[in-house]
Amino acid sequence: MSTLNAAITGCGVIGRTHAVALREFPEVRIVALIDAIPAAAEALADFIEQQGGERPALYTTQAEAFAAEDIHLVALATPSGLHIQQSLEVLAAGKHVVIEKPLDVDLSRAQEIEAAAKEAAGKGIVASVISQHRFDQSSVAVSRAIAAGRFGKLTSAIASVAWWRSQGYYDSGDWRGTWAMDGGGALMNQGVHTVDLLLWFMGRPVEIFAHTARLAHERIEVEDTAVATVTFENGGLAVLHATTAAYPGLTVRVQLMGSEGSAVVDNDRLQYFHSRDTGGASADMGLQGGGNQTEEELAKYPEEDYKAADPTVYPAGHVRQYRDILAAIAGGKQPGVTVSDAVNALAAVRSVYVSATLGQPVLFEDVLAGKYNDLEVHTGSTPAESA
Ligand SMILES: NC(=O)c1ccc[n+]([C@@H]2O[C@H](COP(=O)([O-])OP(=O)(O)OC[C@H]3O[C@@H](n4cnc5c(N)ncnc54)[C@H](O)[C@@H]3O)[C@@H](O)[C@H]2O)c1
Repeated sequence: MSTLNAAITGCGVIGRTHAVALREFPEVRIVALIDAIPAAAEALADFIEQQGGERPALYTTQAEAFAAEDIHLVALATPSGLHIQQSLEVLAAGKHVVIEKPLDVDLSRAQEIEAAAKEAAGKGIVASVISQHRFDQSSVAVSRAIAAGRFGKLTSAIASVAWWRSQGYYDSGDWRGTWAMDGGGALMNQGVHTVDLLLWFMGRPVEIFAHTARLAHERIEVEDTAVATVTFENGGLAVLHATTAAYPGLTVRVQLMGSEGSAVVDNDRLQYFHSRDTGGASADMGLQGGGNQTEEELAKYPEEDYKAADPTVYPAGHVRQYRDILAAIAGGKQPGVTVSDAVNALAAVRSVYVSATLGQPVLFEDVLAGKYNDLEVHTGSTPAESA
């Protein structure tokens, strides 16, 4: 097994998650930490040492690190508004890149990174974007059931992220809650995972009609509450909801309904699953919430396969996605989450903001094609305005 030298750019909250996740793989060596603030890189290096790891070299820019070290893979965990620029640097240097979600805040550069990722793929270079919940046991079970047609025609979905983030959270980094670096609020930062799952399950969106508002926070430019309706190419309809103003924080829930079966994933756990194909009871007026086949279904996806090797490792989702990414690198194939997948999720989020700003429905393909790239988006109301 050859060693894969990794660097982490951005040594804040999620940079640490990447360090912990990467240390699960004996073939990976973290050789460099890059952060514009040297103290942040120092702190992560200390942490890695405390965990029994080798202290990586520290840099303030990717250019310096690339010049000094032999790096094969870069994990990008910087503020969202830097992701495309920094991943283009990584790909131009011929290295694999793992980009934290969201892909970026700026859809106008999406085509550029998509083209760079495709060109890199031709040379065996892997580019993937973190969407760790696609690798949860429950998401895999639902996705395979959809692929096998076990829910029949997917008729509707409800996707809700009902979280709480305090004012202190938004005040903790000057990039948080800004259009330029966070790219949006509850939907972009907290909800993009769920948007990605919704698109993965339901397919390509057609039309989006949304409202957004800032209701329980100050000193942020973006929304803390967003609701939208979404139509899909398969004819299915969905309701999308994301908020950081739901004290004390409820669950993330995806409810998927079809003509032959339905599933509910709540806080990453499969809470309900039913497919008519299992030959159980049927009724003209439905089973009234009964017929939960979750246990039988999950038994097909043994939990051990979805855990980190070390049970104390907390970012198991990142570990699962890294398994996929490292397999793609080793096998010269596409990763489970491609840059194009992330472009679609970003375009769906942007569609919500464009629709809420214009007060009318928008076509996903128009947003994707850049029709509204020059539109300055904004949120509906502020606490002061709504008081
Ligand atoms: N996958 C997930 O579940 C998840 C969870 C949290 C955050 N994220 C994403 O991770 C990214 C970072 O979020 P965070 O909460 O770790 O933020 P953070 O503010 O804690 O960390 C960002 C780090 O990037 C550094 N940085 C800023 N500009 C830089 C530059 N030009 N070059 C190098 N380093 C630079 C900062 O100094 C800071 O240490 C965001 O895109 C966020 O959306 C993903």
